Parts: sequence; structure tokens; C-alpha cells
Amino acid sequence: MRGRFVRSSLLAGVVAFGVVGCAPYAGQELESASTLAPSSASERINPSIWPDLNDPVPTDPAVEARVAQLLAAMSLEQKVGQIIQADIGSITPEEAATYHLGSVLNGGNSAPGGKPFATGPEWLAAADAFYRASTQNRSDPDTPIIPIIWGSDAVHGHNNVIGATIFPHNIGLGAMRDPALMRRIGEITAIEMRVTGLDWTFAPTLAVPRDDRWGRTYEGFSEDPDLVASYAAPLVEGLQGEIGDPDWLRGDHIVATAKHFVGDGGTDAGRDQGDATVSEENLRDVQAAGYVPAIEAGVQSIMVSFSSWNGKKITGHRPLLTDVLKGRMDFGGFLVGDWNAHGQVEGCTNTSCADAVDAGLDMFMAPDSWRGLYDTTLGQARSGVISQDRLDDAVARILRVKLRSGLMDAGLPSQRANAGRFELLGAPEHRAVAREAVRRSLVLLKNDGALPLRQGQTILVAGDGADDIGKQSGGWTLTWQGTDTTRSDFPGATSIWDGLREAAAERGAEAVLSADGSYTDRPDVAVVVFGEDPYAEFQGDVPDLAFRDENDALGILRRFQEAGVPTVSIFLSGRPLWVNPHLNASDAFVAAWLPGSEGDGVADVLFGDTDFTGTLSYSWPRSALQTPLNIGDPGYDPLFPLGYGLSYASGGTVPELPEDSGIDTANEAPGTQVFARGEPGAGYRLVGEAAGRTIPVAQLAETSLDTLSARRVDLGAQEDAWRFTWSGPAAVSAVPNQPLDWTRESNGDFLLALDLRRGDSVPDTVTLSLGCGEDCAGRLDIAPALSALVPDTEATIAIPLRCFVVAGADAARLTTAASIEATGPLVLDIGRIALVSDDGADRTCPTGPATAAWSQE
Ligand code: BGC
Ligand code: BGC
Repeated sequence: MRGRFVRSSLLAGVVAFGVVGCAPYAGQELESASTLAPSSASERINPSIWPDLNDPVPTDPAVEARVAQLLAAMSLEQKVGQIIQADIGSITPEEAATYHLGSVLNGGNSAPGGKPFATGPEWLAAADAFYRASTQNRSDPDTPIIPIIWGSDAVHGHNNVIGATIFPHNIGLGAMRDPALMRRIGEITAIEMRVTGLDWTFAPTLAVPRDDRWGRTYEGFSEDPDLVASYAAPLVEGLQGEIGDPDWLRGDHIVATAKHFVGDGGTDAGRDQGDATVSEENLRDVQAAGYVPAIEAGVQSIMVSFSSWNGKKITGHRPLLTDVLKGRMDFGGFLVGDWNAHGQVEGCTNTSCADAVDAGLDMFMAPDSWRGLYDTTLGQARSGVISQDRLDDAVARILRVKLRSGLMDAGLPSQRANAGRFELLGAPEHRAVAREAVRRSLVLLKNDGALPLRQGQTILVAGDGADDIGKQSGGWTLTWQGTDTTRSDFPGATSIWDGLREAAAERGAEAVLSADGSYTDRPDVAVVVFGEDPYAEFQGDVPDLAFRDENDALGILRRFQEAGVPTVSIFLSGRPLWVNPHLNASDAFVAAWLPGSEGDGVADVLFGDTDFTGTLSYSWPRSALQTPLNIGDPGYDPLFPLGYGLSYASGGTVPELPEDSGIDTANEAPGTQVFARGEPGAGYRLVGEAAGRTIPVAQLAETSLDTLSARRVDLGAQEDAWRFTWSGPAAVSAVPNQPLDWTRESNGDFLLALDLRRGDSVPDTVTLSLGCGEDCAGRLDIAPALSALVPDTEATIAIPLRCFVVAGADAARLTTAASIEATGPLVLDIGRIALVSDDGADRTCPTGPATAAWSQE
């Protein structure tokens, strides 16, 4: 079910809508955004309480002279272009040159050639193409040549590139508490980026996640600001080198980005892009802790957070960006925005935001909005809405970094140090460091003696995470959300199973893989690898900290337990989760976080070659509702405190734990999984409606409505779907138990996806709608999309959420999460209804008639 989208020929006829030119928004985008937001309490800020720093980079008269010379020679168009960054998926090298863009990035789902991910040589060729265009195809030959800089999220290794070394995510690196190893990881990441010709990474993330419901918890090293701060300088220096060294920012090094300034990890309820309602002191001492050492280590760019502080978006926050960061803290690099984050500033749109520049932003991240933003910003610079001084300052800051890093004179990316040395991508010595980091990051939570594994044992290895490199790597791995990858996308990597098999063979033990835990000969011990499926920003936000055990690892553990087989759990997760039942069903339990491409590091420790040294960098909750939970809280009472971690040497066990999660399932907040494996997701009901009667689908199996019947069928697995048969007008609806706010989801390129299979005939109209109360709905006709599918064949229909908004849904108060209405005759088997992330494929909303472009292979 993970095929690419069928690019229907109908698409060609559909007016482009959505990705770049979302028609209904166009009017808004043209509005002027120059109205200044009213000042709020949060703007009354006191820069003098913030750390008083001095830019550690000495002023270089040669650099300053060249900056002045360039500024004097640049056209206004060139200056405006310099402060805009587009996504390579939405711009060609020629366009980037025509509009003088200073930078491009690859978003999590964009890679050269319109693919979601690509090989090293493809990246290098693309880097050359953008460089060449930016230096050669210039519209005005009298203006100076300014090469383009390319930013990429190399957040756990050069994770967008096939074959690169993938390090554990930051949560695991926090558990190892080893700044020296952190520096090595930075060095290796920089070298692997250089191999592909890229100059600039959007890392390190210095968030201090305080509510683990946040889907980006794993991107933060720790809830403890001191631990985050202890890693900032080593990682920045690993990536960039040290100020004053001849290879600072060049050679083996690149430009780093501290992100996301500031408060990203402190939002209420851990909401992504949310609001941190904390005091200025808390913002400084907790959320900003990592920025002081990062600035002192010379970090050359800082990414501004999507989030707000006390109700005001940071991207438009002049006191924080200009008075504090550039003033008091004397940050001398440049501030890059986050993905269209400027569009969320009050009074702004994606294509117009003078206020962000005024606040101190130096470079807009305008992935798909660059073109409109360029025009508007140019107009604002001409009319003086954006002052000449501010524009010059922003450009000067970017130029300084380009000069310091040698970019101005470096020539083609493929001719720079390390470029094209593809043998360095995932080189054995790099993988060895990642494997070491895996060993050091594992935290032993419980051990009743099942570990270490021993010579001569028969070891059964079970669980859906045992042999799945995508799952063990998490989000930001080849794709944005880390989904839609297969084993062959990770050449040279090892799964946890690979490591165990090999280690067992070396020790005269026998390892057997059985994902579902079934066996014929009783093993001596079972290792069960399970945990969260990959996610990244926002998609990973959850309503509580209960582990959602969709593949029933608990059942597997309990079956072993009943058979008297000792169990070792290896838990893969991007955060601590409430897993008391699993802890009870395990004789040993290891928090392995998201180890990345070197799964064999796990076996090294399980067999006792080295002892466990990792300790928790986040507090582990006692109940699923115990969040926020942070060291230093009044009444701090976690299940396992920050710093907890057992070892073979110390031993230690855990008493039987209560198995009540604390969640009131009847009133659970609805999430992004509306319906899956034949069951409504937490917080949803599925109902059938006909002739004024509404009954739960589960009852439909016995009592049919006049025009609608239902029964369980197999789609991908046994009885994982429902078959709905319409003989007349009826609807099947997913109803949340409280109104949904999907504003963030519809802004953020999410799709409503339905895994289904259709019968032979499709009526003229089949409506799929999101309801928002009386007379409020966004209705779309999916009949063409259904007709485009092969009958009796499993497929997916995926529709951009924003299309429902365009069609009239109010995303802020949805009362139905999906409703399928038809007059029949129609047979639909439905296995899943869920919000999924955009895979980057072109997808349009219908301007008039419905479209077939939503059907997926
Ligand atoms: C994320 C950033 C990332 C950027 C580019 C944003 O949505 O918040 O962390 O660097 O996208 O992919
Ligand atoms: C991009 C990410 C980006 C996100 C923001 C995605 O399509 O691939 O890099 O962070 O959008 O919503």
C-alpha cells in the first residue's frame, strides 16, 4: 500500500491548485502585510537579564571590505533574492538563478529528480547544477556573482541520502552523555554532507522538550537544559570546526544551524508549532540554554521557531530576535526562518511578510512560496516598507557566512574537499562510530537475569521492530516522516536482528527470527523488538504517553512468559512511554530509542561484550497522563528518574507495576488514526446512517439498515476491514468524541487517506466529507477517484486536507472526521482512515468537477 501516486492524465487538465497556487488563498496572499501586530505582554521583554555575550568570531577586515563591496554592487533584485530560500522540489536551478535566490533547501520529502530520496551521485549532480546556474545563468551580468548555499536536515547523520551513516536520534545521544563522541558524530556528518556537495545542515536541534507528547521529543537531547547545553558546542564544533582554524566551515566542515530559537520544546501540551506560555526567565534558563554555548562555539546560523511565546509568533518577535539574540547575545551569523513559518506571523501570508524581516529574520524559508514572496518583498523593499538598512544587514549577514565558509571562491561543489568520495558515505569507520553511539545510548530499565545473552543459548528474536531498519531509524530518515522506505533503501545498514544473528553465530549460540513469536522448538530466551512506528514533526504529537501497541507485542511477551521462556524487550521509541504491562511481561527491558543504521550495536551490549552505560535523558512516566514530567518539578515522582539506568555490574530489578494507564478510554482525545485494522481509532466511533437512523458499525453486522449493511472482511490481514454495501442512500461516518481542530494538519500538507477496495460498480457521485456542524461541511466527490481504481484490488485514496477546507470545512471544529455518502449500488471495503503526511507528489484540489488524481496504486 505504499505505492507512489498515480499521476492521472486527468491531472493535466486540472488547473494547478494547491502546491504552489492554491487558488482560494491567492486573494489573501496579495494583501499587504505591513500592518504591525499590536504589542502584547510578551513583547515587554528585558534583554538585560539575558546572557551578555560577545560574538566569538573576530571581525575580519578583508571579509568586511568584501561584504561592503558586494553590497554596493548588488541590485535590489539580487539583495531580495539573497534573503529567500526555496525548496528544490519547487524550483529549477535556472529559476533560482533568474531570481537570484541566496539559498535552496531540500525539505524532508524532496530530493534531486523529484524523488523522495536519492543516491550520493544524484545529490552531488544537483548541487553542481544549482551552483552552476547561480554563477553562470545570470540575468544581469553586471551584478556580482554570489553562489547559492544549500541547506539540508542532516539531523542524525546525512539522513536524506541512500547509504549514509544514520546515527541514533538525539534522545539516544543524550542518554550516552558523551560530548566527545558527540563531536565525532558532528565531524562525520559534515564529511558525509561534503561528499554530496552540500554546505549547510539544519542541526543541531537545541530544543529542550518538556512535554513528551511532542512529536519532536526525540530531536532533543534531553529535558535537562544542562545536558542540552553540554552538547551544543561539541556538536557545533564537530560540524563546523573551530573558529580560527584554517578549515573552519570548510574542508571537512560545513555550516551548522542551531534550531529552533526559541521555546519549541516548551509549548503547552507539547503541541507542535504551539505556544510556550512560560516566563522570560524560563525561556532563558530552560529553552535557550543550548544557544549560549552554540553561539560561543561560533554557530553561523540559527533557525527561528515556528512556535509562539505567550501568544506571539517568534518569527515576528523583534525583541527576541533582534534585541536579545542579535543585540544582547551578539549573534553574528544569520537567522533563517522555518518552513513558511513567516506565513503564520500575524498579518502575514506565505508570500508576504515584511514584519518578519523587520523583526530580524535574515532569510525566509519559502519552499514553495518563494516566487510570490520574491515579488512582494521586492515591492516592499522598493517602497521602503522594508528598510534599506535592514535589508542590507540581512544580506551582509548571509554574505559573511558565505565568505567565511569559502563558498564564494570554492568553485563547483563536486570539486571541493571530499566531494564525490562516495566510499565515505557509510564508510566502515563512520559506521563504527555510530555503532559505538548505539551501544552507549541503550538504557537498561529492568533485568531479572535474562541478560546478558549467553553462549549456547537458542535465542528467538521476535517483534515487528526486529528486522526493520526504517522503524529503528525513526523520522527524518530518507523521508520526512521516516515512512515509506524498504530494506533495500539502506545498503550497508544492519537491523537489530542482523546484529543478533551474527553475534550469536560468533558465540556458538543460535538465533532464530520469528516476527510473530511463533516457534516449534522452545527457545531458551526470547528477544522481542517493538515500539513506535516512525514519525516526525506534528504527526508524532500524541494525546497522552500510552504506548499504542498496534502489533500486540504484549501478546507475544505474555505467550513467552506463559511458556516459561525468559523475555528481553528492546523498546524502540522517540520518547519515554507508559509501558507498565510490557515491563511486567519482560524479564529484561532495554530502552533503545531510535538507534539508526547500526542495529548491531544492540547485540554488542546484549551479549555482554560491553556493559550498559546509558542513562535516561528524559524522565519515564508512572502513568500515561503523567506529563509534563521533568526533573526539578515540585513533587517529581517518575517511574524512572532522569539519570536512571541499570548495568550488569550494578544489577537491579523492578517490582510488579500497576497496569492502569490512567487513561479514560471513553473520553480519549481523538488522534490522527481515525479507523485502522477494522477498529475505530482512540476517540472515534464509526457509524452507519440511513433514513434518519444511526447505528454503530459493529452492530451493523447483525442489524442492517434498510440501505446499508456491513461485515468484516480481509483486506491486508485477517478481518482487518469492513465491507459496506449500499443498496440505496446511506452514509458511513467516523465521528470524533469531541470536535477536532485540524487547522495545523490542513496547513501542514496532510492528507486524508483511505485504504480500500471497491466492488464492480461506482455510482455517479460518492461524497466524502468533513463535517463541522449544522450546514457546515467540506464535501468532495470521490466517484472519479474510485472509478479510477481496479475493482477488487486494494488501493489508497489520499486527499489533501486543505481541499476539504477549500470546499467549506472549518478545520478548527470538525464533528465528522470522514463521512462517505452514496446512493448505491456500491460495495466498499475499508481498512483504514487516517491522516498521513504528504509524500511530495503533486496533488490538486478539484476546481470544478472531481478528480481521479487522488487514487494511489
Ligand atoms: C522543520 C525544521 C526543518 C525544516 C526544513 C521544518 O518543518 O521544523 O526543523 O529544518 O522544516 O525541512
Ligand atoms: C517537508 C518538511 C517540512 C514540512 C513542514 C514537508 O513537506 O518535507 O521538510 O518540514 O513539510 O510542514
